[in-house]
Amino acid sequence: MPLAATPPAEQSSAMSAAGVPAPAPAAELPVPATTSNATTGPAFDPKEVTVIFVLGGPGAGKGTQCARLVQDYGFVHLSAGDLLRAEQARPGSQFGAMIKEYITEGRIVPMEVTIKLLENAMRAAMSSEAGQAKEAGAAGGNKGIPARRFLVDGFPRQMDQAVKFDETVCPSSLVLFLVCPEPILLERLLERGKTSGRDDDNAASISKRFQTFINTSMPVVDYYRKQGKVVDIDSAKSIEDVYADIKSAIEPVLGA
Ligand code: C5P
Ligand code: MG
Repeated sequence: MPLAATPPAEQSSAMSAAGVPAPAPAAELPVPATTSNATTGPAFDPKEVTVIFVLGGPGAGKGTQCARLVQDYGFVHLSAGDLLRAEQARPGSQFGAMIKEYITEGRIVPMEVTIKLLENAMRAAMSSEAGQAKEAGAAGGNKGIPARRFLVDGFPRQMDQAVKFDETVCPSSLVLFLVCPEPILLERLLERGKTSGRDDDNAASISKRFQTFINTSMPVVDYYRKQGKVVDIDSAKSIEDVYADIKSAIEPVLGA
């Protein structure tokens, strides 16, 4: 079945209880906490910062395509899954064990952790020389401009994450939705699992991740589709062809 259908409501609610205690607020994440909250509005102004969400089922090619976009357009690529895995591996993290359990079960980590990791990474990229140099290079040598184009990959994956991020971090300009039939995704993930070392690239976790995607993440795509922000990309095609479609979708947003 293509991973593009919205499930019945009773399935959605069943997926929201993770069976693992929710964490305390992410106060001990590696970069200092910031002051953004729902009453003061988003931490970043969408007029100054472009956020593009890259969504799609597991194995749809989100990371592969984001890597190309980083090279050509100077985006900062923030993969929610990569940030969670890094936090899981960080010595002393109070969230490590919890994150590992959620990932292995294919469930969505409580949003406080993921949003704080993303916000911290955006802030770090905006103030780092590396971020500035990257975009300056891609833009043709305009040195000193801050990193301001972000690809947020694999996020939001649950409605609460979407609402909270839009409210407190930065509303997105565009949502790229990589659509791919499930058998192709399965084949790609099993192939990747031979070398990825990931806890969740195995048949048991993959099937749970597909369920979570359909039940919990598709409503997010539908939500942004109603806002007119979604562009569907057929990601069963070759990497090159998918990339060409993505370039056509993002260039109007970038004014390129
Ligand atoms: O995107 P990726 O496949 O790397 O995500 C791996 C896992 O990380 C997901 O299956 C989920 O357990 C967790 N995750 C999450 N919330 C996100 C993104 C990823 O809980 N927004
Ligand atoms: Mg990925």
